[in-house]
Amino acid sequence: MSVTEKFLSMEYGPAPEDPREALVWLDRHSRKLGHFIGGSFRAPAEGVYFDTFDPSTGEPLAAVSQGSSADIDAAVAAARGALPEWQALSPHARARYLYALARQVQKHSRRLAVLETMDNGKPIRESRDLDIPLVARHFYHHAGWAQLLPQEFPGYVACGVVGQIIPWNFPLLMLAWKIAPALATGNTVVLKPAEFTPLTALAFAEICQEVGLPAGVVNIVTGDGSTGEELVKHPDVDKIAFTGSTEVGRAIRKATAQSHKKLSLELGGKSPFIIFEDADLDSAVEGLVDGIWLNQGQVCCAGSRLLMQESVAETLIGKVRERMSTLRVGSPLDKAIDIGAIVARVQLERIQRLVDQGVAEGATCWQPPSLAMPSRGLFFPPTLLSNVHPTSTVAQQEIFGPVLAAMTFRTPREAVELANNTVYGLAASVWSESINVALQVAAQLKAGVVWVNSTNLFDAACGFGGYKESGYGREGGREGLLEYLEPEWFKRAPRSEAKPIAMDQPPEQEMDSAAPTIDRTVKLYIGGKQARPDSGYSTEVRGADGRLLGEAPLGNRKDIRNAVEAARKADGWARTTAHNRAQVLYYIGENLSQRAEEIAGRLGAVVGREQAGAEVRAGIERVFSYAAWADKYDGAVHNPPFRSISLAMHEAVGTMGIVCPADVPFLGFLSLVMPAIAMGNTVVAVPSETYPLIIGDLYQVFETSDLPGGVVNMVSGRSAELMKVLAEHDDVDAIWSFAGEASSTAAKSLSIGNLKQVFSDEGRKIDWFSSEQGEGRWFLHHATQVKNIWVPYGE
Ligand code: NAI
Repeated sequence: MSVTEKFLSMEYGPAPEDPREALVWLDRHSRKLGHFIGGSFRAPAEGVYFDTFDPSTGEPLAAVSQGSSADIDAAVAAARGALPEWQALSPHARARYLYALARQVQKHSRRLAVLETMDNGKPIRESRDLDIPLVARHFYHHAGWAQLLPQEFPGYVACGVVGQIIPWNFPLLMLAWKIAPALATGNTVVLKPAEFTPLTALAFAEICQEVGLPAGVVNIVTGDGSTGEELVKHPDVDKIAFTGSTEVGRAIRKATAQSHKKLSLELGGKSPFIIFEDADLDSAVEGLVDGIWLNQGQVCCAGSRLLMQESVAETLIGKVRERMSTLRVGSPLDKAIDIGAIVARVQLERIQRLVDQGVAEGATCWQPPSLAMPSRGLFFPPTLLSNVHPTSTVAQQEIFGPVLAAMTFRTPREAVELANNTVYGLAASVWSESINVALQVAAQLKAGVVWVNSTNLFDAACGFGGYKESGYGREGGREGLLEYLEPEWFKRAPRSEAKPIAMDQPPEQEMDSAAPTIDRTVKLYIGGKQARPDSGYSTEVRGADGRLLGEAPLGNRKDIRNAVEAARKADGWARTTAHNRAQVLYYIGENLSQRAEEIAGRLGAVVGREQAGAEVRAGIERVFSYAAWADKYDGAVHNPPFRSISLAMHEAVGTMGIVCPADVPFLGFLSLVMPAIAMGNTVVAVPSETYPLIIGDLYQVFETSDLPGGVVNMVSGRSAELMKVLAEHDDVDAIWSFAGEASSTAAKSLSIGNLKQVFSDEGRKIDWFSSEQGEGRWFLHHATQVKNIWVPYGE
């Protein structure tokens, strides 16, 4: 036999990983595991257990506890009890615990990798080389943050007790992504792993014992969705962090809307994998294997939509098929396996159902014809759907299986349109040898992570998370820590309903007798033009002494719709340079200064002379402040431990609905609208319900300050009614509600449909005159979302 013949005939032999250590661990626990509460394992309160299985064999691995409300109660109480001691530790002491967790994960890495593979079905190659090393990296990185917290986040404090719910696709990795930042920032935790994959979380619980983590700092309660629900609705939980399906994310959003729980959601995706004709096609195909077939495609950021430039589509499809034919499906514990088992039967059936539907809707289904499939266990072959219509189910819905849907495009512009044509916005891969094309496309993609000529790169220093219905909040990096922190003043601020100023009360300050008594009628301001309200109605606005000050239009649903449309059309604002935006803001500030006295005079009739003067002074200063910020709140360049850099860009959120406080009409408006537009957002603002006439002063200034039409739109009226329309409008990306508790609750409840980001006062009293409370990074953080663009380097 010649060397060539030998080489060609080389077959893979079996290369099984030894599962002994993991099995010994399971046996040590008698294959029956309780919850981990207050530092020790305990039996479930109601005595109910369920089995967790190895999906590649169907064998039960262990019985685990079904968490009830009593278990959640006990875990939350343990976390609450542990909070003071944990927070009293020095940053260095907390850092040492995180460091010890990282070390211990590394020491037990083999056991953890095997346990993960047995419980989840993913190839050992992946759990050993990707999942567990990243888990350790996460704890190391966050040990550093724990140490640096007071220096890097002055004025911020932990949320408190955090409830965390994670899915089954990266069980231990998702645990690390949740627990490491929570502990580093001084929170205590109750975590519920997914019902299909609870074992590594329980192994981690034991690691917490081994490092002597104070009892109650980490609690793990196993169970199904009902256990998760108990955790979500528990009144003593301060924050919920969730990763999983968009459907459950929506349910959690609804369940927390009436509470003051902070919420972060990492949800589904339908990420595009875009290949341009000038790409290195072979590398792109290798990337694609990782993009869609990693973890059997059960990855939220899987590159599940292949978008190919038409000129290379045929060649590419040929190469993809050829590569698919070499993929090996089989026992996940075999080190030479590419595709392991699907996590559970329901998931396998769901994948099959969606593939059938894709075919019924016209797609061509291709699977490697001579692929050897295991005779038992839950397996699905790698599958390519071509001729997929961009609107068909398989191009829009998350399949969460080893199924690729392929489409073509002609121009970069069409690629971007197709890529963004989804409710999701988690990740994207762009392949082109032209750095200009790749970065130009990356900038236009609505996704939280974009990989240039690469895919599925993750690091603790780089934020991960989505745009649109892929959720909000980030995990990893600085921005990930902010999800577990709150400004200290805000946490301590008293809750009080902002009262509209009562008309029958005597004015607090003496009225300025020089204040003009004109009967002033203002209009709405939409698309850069003054507009009459659709209803034709207006309301009388009276001063504190009962004098008629003027009439303000009563905007309605139609006016809000027009305003949103105008705001959308003005989205070029996000693409103007930060310098230009700064110039426009300075100009607004200057023009306001020229009218300061007039504005204060009119405003004084409602809020008193003293407040009016102070509002106008502070308001002008605030505009200058955000003009200054406009070109300074920029991103970062991360250096992850690969040959890549990651460009963390601060991008505008999009179109925002802003409901302004009633009692600080001028300063409140500027404190909210200016940071939003400084960062490139466009705005539909509902001004103070008490003094909507402020619109008139503002549009006169906007009209003379080079602010492009549509960037700021103002619709006065009944703020609760207008907020409802904004919250329900699918073209509005975020709601800022600063008109008191009821408004904040309503904003959260009404915007469940498209999972808008809501930023609100939570009914807390904000001192808009204080620059600590009324301006700065906290607002800018909410006015932006971070996009991480990964760019490889080297030959
Ligand atoms: P899921 O979203 O139902 O489960 C995720 C976690 O949420 C689990 O721990 C579960 O017990 C918990 N949970 C379920 N209902 C809950 C509720 N009402 N309140 C609180 N917690 C609750 O995901 P599932 O059913 O396992 O998978 C269904 C589909 O979701 C998949 O086919 C896939 O498309 C998608 N999915 C997406 C993930 C992602 O990371 N984007 C992860 C897992 C699933």
